[in-house]
Parts: sequence; structure tokens; C-alpha cells
Amino acid sequence: MSFKKNILCIGAGYVGGPTMAVIAKKCPDCRIVVVDISAERISQWNSDNIPIFEPGLDKIIKETRGGNLFFSTEIEKGIKEADIIFVSVNTPTKTFGEGAGMASDLQYWEKTAHTIVENAESDKIIVEKSTLPVRTAEAMERILKASNRNIKFEVLSNPEFLAEGTAIKDLLEPDRVLIGSHKTEEGLKAAATLVDIYAHWVPKEKIITANLWSAELSKLVANAFLAQRISSINSISALCEKTDADISEISYAVGSDSRIGSKFLKTSVGFGGSCFSKDILNLVYIAQSYNLKEVADYWEMVVKMNDYQKRRFVQKIIKEMFNTVANKKIALFGFAFKADTGDTRDSPAIYITKKLVEERAFVSITDPKALDNARKDLEGIERLAAENGEGSGNSGIADGHGGERVKLVPDPYEAARDAHAIALLTEWVEYKDLDFEKLYRSMKKPAFIFDGRNILDHKKLYEIGFNVYPIGMSHFTHFE
Ligand code: NAD
Ligand code: UGA
Repeated sequence: MSFKKNILCIGAGYVGGPTMAVIAKKCPDCRIVVVDISAERISQWNSDNIPIFEPGLDKIIKETRGGNLFFSTEIEKGIKEADIIFVSVNTPTKTFGEGAGMASDLQYWEKTAHTIVENAESDKIIVEKSTLPVRTAEAMERILKASNRNIKFEVLSNPEFLAEGTAIKDLLEPDRVLIGSHKTEEGLKAAATLVDIYAHWVPKEKIITANLWSAELSKLVANAFLAQRISSINSISALCEKTDADISEISYAVGSDSRIGSKFLKTSVGFGGSCFSKDILNLVYIAQSYNLKEVADYWEMVVKMNDYQKRRFVQKIIKEMFNTVANKKIALFGFAFKADTGDTRDSPAIYITKKLVEERAFVSITDPKALDNARKDLEGIERLAAENGEGSGNSGIADGHGGERVKLVPDPYEAARDAHAIALLTEWVEYKDLDFEKLYRSMKKPAFIFDGRNILDHKKLYEIGFNVYPIGMSHFTHFE
């Protein structure tokens, strides 16, 4: 069968995999190859055990893989064959040198640009799918144009707005698709080619075209605005705890104003995920680099407020448990940064676990999808326990039930057995329906619950016998 377009996606991650799967499903006239430098990731995509848990993804992969969707490590071959190349590599926060802790680490992205230049044999449209600092396309163009091989590259920005856990729904029914291009004849022509692909399933009025720099910057701004709403409501949750106001009533009352809207006003233990902090810090760094100090300070507060919320949550656990958690067992319900994903990148659970271990608590972690990632995230925990002056018998991470500081326990009832407290960190729907009477009976008394997502029935838990600490509302305790 001959295909109308050959599409390549470089980077088979959380964005590249699901996005290309949906394009493959909706554009049977396109042949799509997804490549990655990680042979392990590619072989997982080609197996029955795909590397990402995302509702609905499995089904689409089964429908399209081997038909018009292929996963491969042959990057050079893919570049040669492609008309359109999506670049969807990771752009984490830089951990070294100039801008460390704030700027984007563009090494993976730059390597991709060089690989494209070295292997291209015909004109290509290059689509920035990764989230990048504003004006990155300019740097990409410079690299691409540095070769004197008479090949034309047109760079577009097409940032991705999917959220994990709802990626397939977000891709199938996006609020909008954003395509940035130069306003030249070639730029507009390339943008029209990409519009045609999305128009296979996205209504035309939802496909927004813009200039390149607006598209790049819009992505950072969208994430900054979303995170800002969470930090705003979390800041008020602290005030509620001092005043007996109820944060859920405030979210409802404030969010009912159609100018404000109700979404992203759920208080929590803090936002996590691979992008919010990274993208805001990048925005801060960009503002600083243009000497816009007030702009930079304004957005940096969103991240600082989030750090405060995570810190506050741990401090509350310690304070309410009589100012010590040393050698007490605390069960963490949920490790993923949000429900319906196994992703733990920048999850508040990582910070909370480390802080509790520093306080010499025993931490048992349960999560329906994220325990494999939790194990990787907590690899250094042995050292942390040792630095904390502990003997070898009490350090380390384990799946069993020895004397280890941190245990990963798939069954929540097992995780909570003999625990002094449960701290709910991820809003997995199954946690609402647990048998809390059974949990209570198996725990040490007095038993505590810290609901970091406000999803439990607090009154009922109190009646069972728990001392209950939601976020941003009154506590229910049995103490005088
Ligand atoms: P990821 O880490 O899951 O995937 C990136 C992949 O790129 C990895 O598999 C890595 O091996 C591969 N890679 C790196 N360098 C490569 C190279 N030179 N050649 C081939 N492959 C290479 O990252 P992700 O979560 O998919 O994010 C990708 C980009 O999309 C980031 O810029 C991110 O900010 C943005 N984004 C992510 C999400 C999300 O929900 N995760 C949503 C919107 C936008
Ligand atoms: C977010 C954005 O929603 C996407 O549009 C964007 O494409 C993506 O980042 C990205 O660039 O990576 P994601 O991080 O997957 O998506 O998930 P969100 O649903 O935005 O949740 C982020 C964090 O905020 C989670 O920890 C979540 O629990 C928390 N959150 C969310 C709250 O604490 N309260 C809320 O009301 C909403």
C-alpha cells in the first residue's frame, strides 16, 4: 500500500507514543514511524507490555501497530524516508552549569537537530513537539541551515497539551491544536500541511495557527497558568486551616464564577509531574535572561508555593503525631503524581517519603501502577537512612517485610497493617472504596489519616475511630 505522507517521530516517550498512535488511527493514509535511542523502550512498544500506562492506549496500539504505525531504533533510515519529522525528545531542567535548576537542558533536542541534518536527503518539515524555550526554533533553523546540501527544512512549533491519565481523550478531542510557523510562503505552506493532518479528526475551528514564537511561548504560559491556579488554591488552603473556612466550599463558590471557572481548583498535597515545575522554572529563567525581574519573581512564587504545600503536609503529619514519627509506620496510599498513571516524575510522594525517612519513620508505599517507578525514585534512600545515623539493619528499600525503612507493598491493607498513620497522596478512585473499618482494626491506635487529596469521607472515618486531617478544612479528632 502506498501512503500519502511519511511521518517520523523522534522520541518514543509519554508524548511521542500516544500522539503518534492517535495520528496513525485517524490518518490511515499516513505511515508513521516512532524512533528512540532507547532500544529497551522500542522493544517495549513492540511488545504486549507497552512502556506507558494510559487508559485506551493499549487498544489503539493493537489496532495500528504493524499497519501504519511502527516503532524502531533505525533513526537514520527514518529520517531519510520522512516528509514530516516530529521531535518529541525530553527537555528536562538543566542540572549543571549556567542556568542549572531552571533552564531547559537542550542537549537531547540539539543532538536530534544534528542527526536530522546529517541524514536528510530531501526537503522536510520539522515539527517541535517537545516543550521548548521561546525562540528555540531559531536555533534549530541555524543548525539545519548550517549544512550546505541544498535541502530545505521548514520548522513548525506544535506544542502538546495532553495530560497524563487522559492522554488519549485529550488527543482525540483536544480543546485546541496549536501550530506556529513563519509567516512566509514556505512557512504557511508547511503549516497548512500539518493542519491537513489534524483536520482528519479535529474540527477546523479548533486548529489555531500562530507565529512560531507565540506557539512556543503559549505552551509554557498554559502550563504556568494551570499550575498557578493550583498554587493559588493551595495557598488559601493554609488560611482555611487557621480560620475554619472550608477549601472545598471556597473552590466551589469561586469556581462558579464563569469568568474564573471550576477546573484546576482542587487543593492537594502539591502538584507534581514532569512538566509544571520544569516549564515554570524555564519561564522564570527566560524572563530573567531578558532582565524582567518582576516577571520572573511573579512566576517563581508558583513553584515556591508548591514547595511550601508539600513541606506543610509533612510538617502537619509530624506535629499532629505528637511531634515525632521516629520508628512509627506510615502508609503512603499512592505514589504516582496523579491518578490513572504510573508516572512518578516529580511526584510529591518522593519528597514526602524522603522527609519521613529523615524523621526515621518506617514508610510503606502502595500504588496500583507506580511501584516500579517508586523503586527507581527511591534508590538513594539507603544512603539517606545511613546519613541519618542508622545502622544497616534499618536502612534500605524492600518489597518484603523485614526491618527496612521503606517498603513497596501492592496491597493497601498489607501496607497499612500495624501502621500509625495513612497519608493519602494520589487520588486513585479505588482508595475511596476501601474497607476503612478493616484498615482501622489492623492499625496502631490512635490511628491517623492525612487526606492529601480530600477524596475520602472524613465524617465516616472519624466515626470509625480515625483522627482525620484533610487539607484546607477542619480536623476531626478524638483528642480532648
Ligand atoms: P519522555 O522522557 O517520556 O520521552 C522522551 C524520549 O526521547 C525518551 O524515550 C528518550 O530516550 C528519547 N530521546 C532522547 N534523545 C533522543 C535522541 N537524540 N534520539 C532519539 N530519541 C531520543 O518525555 P515526554 O514526557 O514524552 O516529554 C517529551 C516532551 O514533551 C518534553 O519536552 C515535555 O515537556 C513535553 N510534554 C510532555 C507531556 C507529558 O505529559 N509527559 C505533555 C506535553 C508536553
Ligand atoms: C499538565 C497539563 O495539564 C497538560 O496540559 C500539559 O500538556 C502537561 O502538563 C505537560 O506539559 O506535561 P499533567 O502534568 O500530565 O498535565 O497532569 P495535570 O492533570 O495537569 O496534573 C498536574 C499535577 O497537578 C498533578 O500532580 C495533579 O494531581 C495536580 N493537580 C491538578 C492539583 O493538585 N489540583 C488540580 O486541581 C489539578
